Amino acid sequence: SYYQERFRPHIHFTPEKMWMNDPNGLVYYKGEYHLFYQYHPDSKKWGPMHWGHAVSKDLFTWEHLPIALYPDELGMVFSGSVVVDWNDTTGFFDGKEGLVAIFTHADGDLQRQSIAYSKDQGRSWEKYAGNPVIKNPGIQDFRDPKVIWHEETAKWVMVLAAGRKVQFYTSPDLKQWTFVSEFGEGWGAREGVWECPDIFPLINEKTGEKKWVLPIGIDAGGPAGGSGTQYFIGAFDGNTFTPEQPKQEVRWLDYGKDFYASQSFSDVPGGRRVVIAWMSNWQYANEVPTDPWRSGMSLPRELKLTTVDCEECVIQKPVHELGSLRNSRPASETFSVNNTDKVTKRQPVVPFVIEMKVEAGSSQRFEGRVFVTGDDPGFLFGIDFSKDVLYVRRGYTEEGFSKHYKGTFEAPLRKGRSDYQLTVICDHSSVEIFTDDGKVALTNLHLPSEAISYEIVMEAIGGTADVSDYRVSELSPRW
Ligand code: FRU
Repeated sequence: SYYQERFRPHIHFTPEKMWMNDPNGLVYYKGEYHLFYQYHPDSKKWGPMHWGHAVSKDLFTWEHLPIALYPDELGMVFSGSVVVDWNDTTGFFDGKEGLVAIFTHADGDLQRQSIAYSKDQGRSWEKYAGNPVIKNPGIQDFRDPKVIWHEETAKWVMVLAAGRKVQFYTSPDLKQWTFVSEFGEGWGAREGVWECPDIFPLINEKTGEKKWVLPIGIDAGGPAGGSGTQYFIGAFDGNTFTPEQPKQEVRWLDYGKDFYASQSFSDVPGGRRVVIAWMSNWQYANEVPTDPWRSGMSLPRELKLTTVDCEECVIQKPVHELGSLRNSRPASETFSVNNTDKVTKRQPVVPFVIEMKVEAGSSQRFEGRVFVTGDDPGFLFGIDFSKDVLYVRRGYTEEGFSKHYKGTFEAPLRKGRSDYQLTVICDHSSVEIFTDDGKVALTNLHLPSEAISYEIVMEAIGGTADVSDYRVSELSPRW
C-alpha cells in the first residue's frame, strides 16, 4: 500500500509527517544507506531541530526509523555528517568500529560543533560527554560540519560554513580539533550566507587527475532565486583548499529552484560519489501546500568529473539503481514537431521518466510540457538553440502560497550544439531534468492541477525540430 495523499512523491524520500529540511549524516554502512535529516516532529514548519532517520538498501526504498538525535541543554541539533570510525580513533568502540555523528548544536545565536556515537548501526545514539568539541570562535553563522577521513595525512578533516566562507579543521580522534585554514573570501556566489559544505575527491575521467570538489549551499542568490548550490574544483592537501578557476566564476550543481544543502554519502562501495539534496527553497519551504508532511529529498545522483571544451566540470546522472524501478522497456519513437504540428501523448501513471534526443532541425526552440490538463499548460521544459539555454516554467495552480513559486528558470548549455539528450523524471510534485551529457541538472517542485489524466505535449518554435529515441517509462512506486 502506497501513500495516497495529493503531491506525495512515490520515488523521492519524504518524512511520513511534519517538517523536514537538509539531508544529514549520509553514510553507507553494513549494507545500509543511512539518511538522517533536519526534522521538526511537532510541526509542518521549521522549529527545534532533531535528526530524523531512515535507511535503505537500494537508495529508493526507505524504511523510517525513530528520531536519532534530540535537542538538549546545548541546543537544537542542526546539520552535520556521519563517518564510520573504522579504527576506533575515538575510543568509543572498544577497539571495534562504529558510527560517529558530527553536528552543530545551536542555542539561540550560539553555534558550536558536537559529536555523538552509535554502536548499533545508528539505531541508538549517545552524545559525547565532552561536547561541544569546537567552541564558537566569535562567528555567528558557524555550522554544518562535514567530516571525511583524509588518507594522505591520516587525519579527520572537517569543513564547515563560517559566514560567507568555509573553514577547515583537522583531528586525530574526532574530539580534539585544530583550525587549519579557511577558503572563500571573495570567491564564487556571495549573495547569501554559505551553508552545508561538502568535500570529496573525484578522478577526472579524461585526464586521470585527482581533484577535490567543494559544493557549498548559499541561502540567497541561487541560480533560480533563493537557495542554491555552487561548487568549486581544486586541490586539497588535507589542510588547504586551492581552487582552480577564476575568482568570480560560479558553477552551480543544479540550476533549478529546489536543490539545496546537498550532501554526499560517505563510504559508498566502489568509491561512487552519490549525492542527495533537500528538494525545496528557503523562499517558500515553510508554505508548500502538502499535508501531512512538508518537503522531500531529490533523487540520489552520481557525480563524476570530466573535461568538456577544455573546462573541468562535474557531471551527474540519477544513480543506476533507478533502472530497477522501470516497469518495462517501451519501444522508442521518432517524430518531428513544429509550430503547427504539436505532438500530444497520454501521460502514463506517475512516477515516470521521459528520455529523448532532440535535434534543432530548422527550429529555434523546442518545448515539451508534462502534467498538461484542461487550461493548465503544465510544467514546461524548453531548449533555445539560438541562446544555448535550457529553460523551464512552472506555475498555474497552487502558486498562491508564495510569490516565489511561479517562474521561468534557465541553465546555460554548451555553445553551438544542436542536439541534446534529455532525461526528465516526474514524480507527483517534482520534475528533475538532466541534459548536456550531465553537465546541466535542473530540479524543481511542480504542483500539478488535480486531474483524471494528463498529457505530454511537444512542439517547436520557428521551424521543425526532430525527436528521436523518445521513450517514456513508468517507474514503480516505492511508497
Ligand atoms: C540549511 C540550514 C543549515 C542549518 C539547518 C538548520 O538549510 O540553514 O545551515 O544547519 O538548515 O535546520
